[in-house]
Amino acid sequence: MQTLTSYDAIPYESVPISETHVEGLAALGRLFGVPTADPQRCRVLELGCAEGGNLIPMAFYLPGSHFVGLDLSQGQIAAGQRLVAALGLGNIALLHRDVMQPTEELGQFDYIIAHGLYSWVPAPVQARILQICAQHLAPGGIAYVSWNALPGWHTRAVMRDMLLAHTSALTNPAERLQAAYRFLAEFGPGLAEEAGDLAAILAAEVAYLRQAPPSYLYHEYLVETNTPLLFRDFAAQAARLGLRYVADVDLHTLLPHTLGRAGQAALSGIEDRLARIQAMDFLRARRFHRSLLTLAATPVREAPDLDAFRRLAFHADLTSEEEIDLGSIERQTFTTPTGACYAVAHPLSKAALMWLASAYPSSVGYADLFAAAANLVSEYADAEMAQNEAAFERELLDLVAWGAVKPVVTVQTYAVAPDERPRAHALARAQTELGADCVASIRHTAVHLDAPAARLLGLLDGRHDLAALTQAMQPLLPQEYAQAAREGCERMLWTFARQGLLAGTVESPG
Ligand SMILES: C[S@@+](CC[C@H](N)C(=O)[O-])C[C@H]1O[C@@H](n2cnc3c(N)ncnc32)[C@H](O)[C@@H]1O
Repeated sequence: MQTLTSYDAIPYESVPISETHVEGLAALGRLFGVPTADPQRCRVLELGCAEGGNLIPMAFYLPGSHFVGLDLSQGQIAAGQRLVAALGLGNIALLHRDVMQPTEELGQFDYIIAHGLYSWVPAPVQARILQICAQHLAPGGIAYVSWNALPGWHTRAVMRDMLLAHTSALTNPAERLQAAYRFLAEFGPGLAEEAGDLAAILAAEVAYLRQAPPSYLYHEYLVETNTPLLFRDFAAQAARLGLRYVADVDLHTLLPHTLGRAGQAALSGIEDRLARIQAMDFLRARRFHRSLLTLAATPVREAPDLDAFRRLAFHADLTSEEEIDLGSIERQTFTTPTGACYAVAHPLSKAALMWLASAYPSSVGYADLFAAAANLVSEYADAEMAQNEAAFERELLDLVAWGAVKPVVTVQTYAVAPDERPRAHALARAQTELGADCVASIRHTAVHLDAPAARLLGLLDGRHDLAALTQAMQPLLPQEYAQAAREGCERMLWTFARQGLLAGTVESPG
C-alpha cells in the first residue's frame, strides 16, 4: 500500500518552469554539440512532475510531441489527470509511480526533466534518477536535473537548521508550516540585529522566505532530506552512471569572461573544463544548479559552437521605460515582467532587444534578427557600426548567457491582436475554472492573475466584445478605476494576447 507523501499533505505549487521547456533544452544542447531532437516532434519524460503544472502546458502547446510524467504523490497526479481530461489532451500521460519502480516499458525519450527532485530524495533515489536518464535517453537526448549546490547552500542551511529545530516537536505538516512562519516573523527582526557576521545573510533569507510560496518553504526547509552537493561530485556520479555533463541552463555561470578580473585570475592554470566549473562555483558560492546531461557516448563541446548559435532563434519578453537612443553608446536598461534588468550599450544590442520586445512572443532567427538590428542602426545612427556582426554576435551570446534573451530552435510567428470578441484558449480557461491564480503563457512562463484579471479571462468565451466585457467588469473594479474600465480591460486583453492566452494567438509553427 502506498502511504501518503508529504506532497499529498502540502502539494507543491505546480507551475511552468520556463527553463525546462524543450525548445530551450534543444537550443542549449545544440550549442554544445549535442544533436538534439526537434522539440515540435519529440518525447518528453518528467520525473517528480507534481500536478503536471510544468508538463501539461507543454503538451497543450506542442501537440506534435508526447509527454509522460511520474510522481509518487497520488493526490497531485489525480489533480493533474483532471486537468488533462478537461482539456482532452491525448499526448500526455501522468502516472502515479515511484521512480524506484521499473520503468522499462516507458521507452526512449528525447528530453527528461527532473526539476526540484534530485537534492530532495535519499541517495539511492538520486542514483536511480540518473540511472533512468542513462537508460531512457535516446541518442542526442538531453536530461535536465536541478539540484542544490555547495558551497553556497551552506548559507541557506543555517536558516533550515533553525527552522527544523524550532518545529521538531510537531508532526502535522500544516502546523509545522505555521510554526515556521511564526518563527520568521518573530525572530526575523532580532536575527537582523543580533546575528553578527551572519545578520545580513539571515535578514535576506527571512525576507526571501516570507514572500516564497508556502509549499516551497515546506519542501525546501522543513522536510527531512535536502542534500546539497559539490559540482564535481554531481558530475562524477553522472559519469559513473553513463552520462556526460553538457552545460547549465544559467549559461553565464560557465563562461569565465563573465567573472571580474580577480575571479578570472583565480581560474588561470585550471585547464580541465569540469574543474574550472567547480572553481567558478567556489568563486560565486554557487547554491543551485540546473544542469543538462547527455549520454556518455555523445561528444560535448567545451565552449558554445558559434555556427550552431547562428542557426538558433530567439525571443525576449522585455520592455524599456527609456526612449532607446540608437545613436549613443550610453547604457540603457530593458526589464522583464519579473523585474530583472539588463543594461546594454552597443546600438546593435539595443536594436536587437527593441526588435525582440516588439515581436514577442514570436521568435526570430539569428540572420533575421541581425538584419533587423542592422537596418535600425543604419537608419537611426551609424551605417558602419550597423555592419559589425562580430559585435552583434558576441553581445547576443552574452544576453543569452545572462538570460535576457531566450534561445530556441524553432522560428514561430504569432499574431497578438485580440479579436473583436476575444476567446481565451482552452488551457487558460480550464486553469481559471479550476481556480488557479496563475496560467501558463505560450512561452512557458507563469502568468499570475489578480482577481480582476482572473475574472476577465473567465469571461473570454468569444461571445463578448470590449463594450460587453467592460460592462461586466465595472462592478468588480474599485470606484476610482470604474471610469477607466474600458482602457483597463483593453490593456488586460493586450497583455493576455502577448502572453498567448487567446485562441487566435496559438498558431502552428511557421
Ligand atoms: C519539490 S517537488 C517538485 C515538483 C515539480 N517538479 C516542480 O518543480 O514544480 C518534488 C516532487 O517529486 C515527487 N517525488 C519525490 N520522491 C519521488 C519518487 N521517489 N518518485 C516519484 N516522485 C517523487 C514529489 O511527490 C513531488 O511532487
